[in-house]
Amino acid sequence: MYFFFFCIFAQSKRREMVQHQVTRQLLNWYDENKRDLPWRGTTDPYMIWVSEIILQQTRVAQGWDYFVRFTRRFPNVETLANASEEEVLRLWQGLGYYSRARNLHAAAKDIMSRFNGQFPTCYPDILSLKGIGEYTAAAISSIAFNEPHAAVDGNVLRVITRLFEIEEPVQSTQGKRIVKELAKSLLPKGRSGAFNQALMDLGSLLCVPRQPKCDDCPLTDICMARASRRTDELPVRLKKRKARKRYFTYLHIRQDGYTYIQQRTGNDIWRNLYEFPLIETNKPIELEALLQNDEYNQLLGETASHAIDGPFMYKHLLTHQHIHANFYRVTLEKGAVHALQNQYVQIAEEEMKRYPISRLMHKYMETNSYK
Ligand code: ADE
Repeated sequence: MYFFFFCIFAQSKRREMVQHQVTRQLLNWYDENKRDLPWRGTTDPYMIWVSEIILQQTRVAQGWDYFVRFTRRFPNVETLANASEEEVLRLWQGLGYYSRARNLHAAAKDIMSRFNGQFPTCYPDILSLKGIGEYTAAAISSIAFNEPHAAVDGNVLRVITRLFEIEEPVQSTQGKRIVKELAKSLLPKGRSGAFNQALMDLGSLLCVPRQPKCDDCPLTDICMARASRRTDELPVRLKKRKARKRYFTYLHIRQDGYTYIQQRTGNDIWRNLYEFPLIETNKPIELEALLQNDEYNQLLGETASHAIDGPFMYKHLLTHQHIHANFYRVTLEKGAVHALQNQYVQIAEEEMKRYPISRLMHKYMETNSYK
C-alpha cells in the first residue's frame, strides 16, 4: 500500500521537475530552430486567425500559398467582411471543408458589427466568434497577445503524452483535460505564444507519430516515454468509428463547349457546392452496369450518339466517409437531344472556375477535364 502511494508521489515529483526543464530547453531549441513561416513575423490577430484556420485544413507546405493568396486579397477583417461568399469560397477552393471558409466570412462580418471592426483581444470574445473553438482561441490569444492559454492540437497532444507518459486515451474528456492542464502548467510568463508554437514545431518536425527523431530532440533526456521506450505506444487512441463507404458516379457531359452542373442541397456533405450530374449507388458499378442504370437512362438513354471515356477513378477520404468516385467524360454531338436541362444548369466549360466546387471535383478538373 505504502509502495503504491510512493510510486504516485515519485511520479508527480518527476513531472514537476520535468515541467521546469521543458520550458527552458524547448524555448532555447525554438529560438534556434523555429520554422520561418509567413505568419510568424506578425502579431496581427487577423493574420494569425487566418493561418490557424488554413492549418486546420492542410499541412504547412500546402497552406503557405493559400495563406499568401487569401491575405493578399483580404489583408484585414474589413476586406474579408465586404467580400462575396462566392469569392471567399473560390480562394478556399482545393482546401475542402468549405464550412471553415464560410465561418471565417461570417466571423469577419460579426467583428465589424460587434467589435467595430477591431479583432477582439481577450480569450472569451475570441472564443465567441463563429468557427473558433478552444484551440483556435488559445492559439490566437497566445500568439497575438501572449495570453496564457495552452493551444493543444494533434502535435501538442503527442508531445505532451509522450513527455509525461500519459496513458489516458487522448479523445476522452479525462485525457484531454490532463494534457491541457499539463500544457498550461508549462507556459512561461510572457512567452506563451512562442511556447505553444515551439510545441507545435517539435511535434511536426521531431516528435512525429512514427519513428520520432529522439536523438535530435531537445527534450530527449527528460522524456518519460523515451526513458521507458514507449514512444510508439503513445498517444493512446480509441478505435475509430468505421467510415461509411459511398459510391459516386459523376457524368462530365461535354456538348459543343458546354457542360452541366447542379448545386448540392440538403443535409449532406458539400452543401451549396456545385458538381456534375451525380449517380450515387450502394455498391461500386462499372460502365456496363451504369448503362443499365435507371437514373443514367432517364438522362441519356434517349440520346442517340455519345462517346464515353473513363472511368477516371478517385478515392476521396473525409472524416467519416470514404467516397469512391468514378468520373466519366461523356461527349454528346451538337444538337443531340437529352433530358439534362430538366435538372441541371447548362454552362460553358470555361465558366466552371467561377463556381465553388468540392475538393474531389477540383482534383478531377485539375487532372482530366480538358484532355
Ligand atoms: N500548426 C497550427 N498553427 C501553427 C503555428 N502557428 N505554427 C506551426 N504549426 C502550426
